[in-house]
Amino acid sequence: MLLHFIIFCSISYFQQIHGQTYSVLQFGAIGNGKTDDTNAIRATLAAANNSNGGRVVFDSGYTFLSGCFNVTSNVILDVRGTILVPQNSSYFVPVPALPWMGGIPGWQSIVRSYNAQNITITGGGVIDGQGSPWWDCARNNLSLPPCNGFNRPNLVQLYNTIDVVVYNIHLKDSPMWNLHLANTTNVHIYNVNITAPSDSHNTDGYDIDCSVNMLLENSFYNGGDDAIAVKSGIDYFGRTFGRTTANVIIRNMTIGTSHGLSIGSEMSAGVRNVTFQNITMNGSGAGPRIKSQRGRGGVVQDITYQDITLYNVDTAIDITMNYSKKYIPPTNDTATPKFININIVNLHAENSNYGWYLDGLPESAVNNTFLSNITLTNTKHLIQLCDYTYGICDNSTVLPYCPTCIQAEPCVDMSSDCTQYLGQCSSPVYLFVENRVICAILAKIVGLE
Ligand SMILES: *[C@@H]1O[C@H](CO)[C@@H](O)[C@H](O)[C@H]1NC(C)=O
Ligand SMILES: *[C@@H]1O[C@H](CO)[C@@H](O)[C@H](O)[C@H]1NC(C)=O
Ligand SMILES: *[C@@H]1O[C@H](CO)[C@@H](O)[C@H](O)[C@H]1NC(C)=O
Ligand SMILES: *[C@@H]1O[C@H](CO)[C@@H](O)[C@H](O)[C@H]1NC(C)=O
Ligand SMILES: *[C@@H]1O[C@H](CO)[C@@H](O)[C@H](O)[C@H]1NC(C)=O
Ligand SMILES: *[C@@H]1O[C@H](CO)[C@@H](O)[C@H](O)[C@H]1NC(C)=O
Ligand SMILES: *[C@@H]1O[C@H](CO)[C@@H](O)[C@H](O)[C@H]1NC(C)=O
Ligand SMILES: *[C@@H]1O[C@H](CO)[C@@H](O)[C@H](O)[C@H]1NC(C)=O
Ligand SMILES: *[C@@H]1O[C@H](CO)[C@@H](O)[C@H](O)[C@H]1NC(C)=O
Ligand SMILES: *[C@@H]1O[C@H](CO)[C@@H](O)[C@H](O)[C@H]1NC(C)=O
Ligand SMILES: *[C@@H]1O[C@H](CO)[C@@H](O)[C@H](O)[C@H]1NC(C)=O
Ligand SMILES: *[C@@H]1O[C@H](CO)[C@@H](O)[C@H](O)[C@H]1NC(C)=O
Repeated sequence: MLLHFIIFCSISYFQQIHGQTYSVLQFGAIGNGKTDDTNAIRATLAAANNSNGGRVVFDSGYTFLSGCFNVTSNVILDVRGTILVPQNSSYFVPVPALPWMGGIPGWQSIVRSYNAQNITITGGGVIDGQGSPWWDCARNNLSLPPCNGFNRPNLVQLYNTIDVVVYNIHLKDSPMWNLHLANTTNVHIYNVNITAPSDSHNTDGYDIDCSVNMLLENSFYNGGDDAIAVKSGIDYFGRTFGRTTANVIIRNMTIGTSHGLSIGSEMSAGVRNVTFQNITMNGSGAGPRIKSQRGRGGVVQDITYQDITLYNVDTAIDITMNYSKKYIPPTNDTATPKFININIVNLHAENSNYGWYLDGLPESAVNNTFLSNITLTNTKHLIQLCDYTYGICDNSTVLPYCPTCIQAEPCVDMSSDCTQYLGQCSSPVYLFVENRVICAILAKIVGLE
């Protein structure tokens, strides 16, 4: 009796991870790129799930034609060959509207996890979304196939998932976003390659959304939308879901065409403590890019861009609280976004079309901005806009000169001891720069005094 009780407990409370390897070929996948392997692949993942995890292998040298599938806890998705996504919504199942997309339901992502823990995606292979017909229907008419009235599938979406590693994989031509980390915690992404044509529609690279503790490094993007987009839900939906994205490091990245190193525009639950470091871009629409608009609500704060090199971008630095081009009347406190404590240091841009686009709101200025060691060379139009953006700009190292609306006389001490300056200039303020607090003395600063 006691023995039975112990065995029962050990099975139900301490489920063992068998750590077995499951090849999709063993479950009937053909891998010739033509036969539909969806059911074989779903069966393989179900077998892994039944033993509480394991390594699921898509063998090298094969191309597996597959619709969407779910990945569960303790699975290593080992994509050594190619997963080829059919251009037809019959291979997908609809999922309810998510807080990130407003009210419209969508097709399930090709690879998806939900309420899971400990998932790895790797293998050196390719997930090819063959997205072009999806870009067309989204651009022209969502009711046309393959969209058929639903939001497009992302390539990979890990949702409510803890402990994630993604490395050594190529994500290609997603119907929509490539890698959507949605309410994830403890994530490490490295050596990932994401590509799509530069004119493809909404093919974001790395979407870090309502997520905490992220390290994204040594990876590549060349595509048609934001290389990186740090988000936290849209308007009411984001504020209700209510998870602030925080503690994110993005470093050592190489980027070709893209729309930028972005935060927003969906940031309604807030974005805090994000560092972009050592990033080179060539041919992008923007470098650092922070975007929101009235109605979003949420606070973007403690953001650092450092050691950024930009070649041939359209707008070097693009910060706007008027993202939507149409006029949106002023809103109330909960629905008005705030940008505070944005630091840009050690940035070099060559051959930009525009240098600065800084566009705060009269009722919510971009405050406590810190700009130091920025050189914009060979810029066609240095300052496209500079409105309602305040803070410190080090005029001796921001070249050719600081954006005109930041009228600060800098007096910056990179130590963190402000006490020696008390009584001088104006009051010292503490700023968050390069992941540490510095002391800054502001002689003359609009919006802060
Ligand atoms: C995984 O297994 C659990 C039971 O252990 C079940 O509830 C769940 O539906 C399975 N998920 C998939 C995708 O097979
Ligand atoms: C994946 O899991 C979700 C539930 O989280 C379910 O609604 C959906 O049908 C599953 N998709 C597939 C392809 O089994
Ligand atoms: C994570 O999943 C892998 C693959 O099944 C397994 O080997 C490992 O033990 C799991 N880690 C934890 C902490 O459960
Ligand atoms: C976010 O994910 C965690 C599990 O990782 C879950 O406990 C929590 O309920 C999720 N939040 C929401 C709002 O669904
Ligand atoms: C990424 O993939 C593209 C397209 O296959 C390839 O040209 C490029 O060399 C790859 N980049 C990296 C860093 O792996
Ligand atoms: C900011 O994020 C980094 C990296 O995740 C973390 O080490 C640090 O503790 C965070 N700082 C704060 C003030 O939360
Ligand atoms: C950046 O990448 C290089 C080469 O992979 C590596 O040696 C270096 O440690 C990385 N730097 C950081 C900060 O991760
Ligand atoms: C910066 O990133 C590039 C690309 O990953 C890498 O080769 C280089 O070593 C990095 N530099 C530092 C100082 O980490
Ligand atoms: C603020 O605006 C939001 C969205 O328009 C609305 O839901 C909320 O009730 C408003 N709050 C106040 C205090 O007026
Ligand atoms: C200024 O930034 C450049 C990169 O644009 C960097 O090479 C240089 O070391 C920085 N100078 C200081 C004093 O940090
Ligand atoms: C930001 O700037 C506005 C002016 O638009 C000012 O009224 C407000 O007090 C400032 N807020 C902070 C937190 O500095
Ligand atoms: C910054 O430098 C430019 C060019 O050297 C100069 O015209 C401008 O007056 C300076 N601004 C401040 C606030 O010192």
